[in-house]
Amino acid sequence: MDEPQNDEPPEHARRNRELWDASYSAWFGSLARDQWAADPHWGLFAIPQTELPVLPDDLAGRDAIELGCGTAYVSAWIARGGGRPVGIDNSERQLATASAMQAEFGVSFPLLHGNAEAVPRPAASFDLAISEHGAASWCDPYRWIPEAARLLRPGGELVFMRNSTLLALCQPPEGPAGTELLHQQFGMNALDNGDGGVNFQLPTGPMIRLLRESGFVLEDLIEVQAPQNATSPYDYVDPAWARQWPCEEVWKARRV
Ligand SMILES: C[S@@+](CC[C@H](N)C(=O)[O-])C[C@H]1O[C@@H](n2cnc3c(N)ncnc32)[C@H](O)[C@@H]1O
Repeated sequence: MDEPQNDEPPEHARRNRELWDASYSAWFGSLARDQWAADPHWGLFAIPQTELPVLPDDLAGRDAIELGCGTAYVSAWIARGGGRPVGIDNSERQLATASAMQAEFGVSFPLLHGNAEAVPRPAASFDLAISEHGAASWCDPYRWIPEAARLLRPGGELVFMRNSTLLALCQPPEGPAGTELLHQQFGMNALDNGDGGVNFQLPTGPMIRLLRESGFVLEDLIEVQAPQNATSPYDYVDPAWARQWPCEEVWKARRV
């Protein structure tokens, strides 16, 4: 079977849809506008693509799927680079903002409302699958990584950015990560952050194994260091912490 059936979404996808639809705020709208207007940059510290090369160099004519696209600024950057993006997101509210940004900036591409673990597109439809804290953080890797493999053509690239495992291990229920290991790493995957949603953080070893078992060759794992004098609008990471330890990571893998 090429295309996944639209079965009932799993419990975590229902919870995350509720969370993202409910937590939408005007702040997301203004952040989305800033992101759409800007050149490509990445993560908590808005590191420019020139310093943190997340997107492949040559996007021209490439079919791309953004898994958990949110307000879809990454897809907009891909479209501006000559690629042909499709965005999928679980939250209608996020997609409404993405759609408003498309109209405002005159950049148009398909937006799908659904679970990035079961994308209604045929196998081998894309050259690039990308997620910046979307599926990479909010979908079960044992579902979304094999789904990305299904969607990609042979030789296609999977690129995703997520929080580091070290950050997750040091994260208290509230406030920024400290210097104490607060959680057990062995067996870690789904995390309940107490806000009704479910995050996922599969540690490095099991993630490498999953990528290989799904038909990928790992090409890079970039541990992101906060730039000097960095600031961040997010309260769960202190920039000084992220100068010393990686708070985010960028994974790059190629479909065999
Ligand atoms: C932090 S945002 C990242 C997206 C984008 N980079 C942005 O900042 O707008 C996380 C997104 O993942 C989406 N998401 C969560 N679970 C999902 C799922 N199962 N399938 C597709 N998208 C999902 C949320 O709705 C949200 O828009």
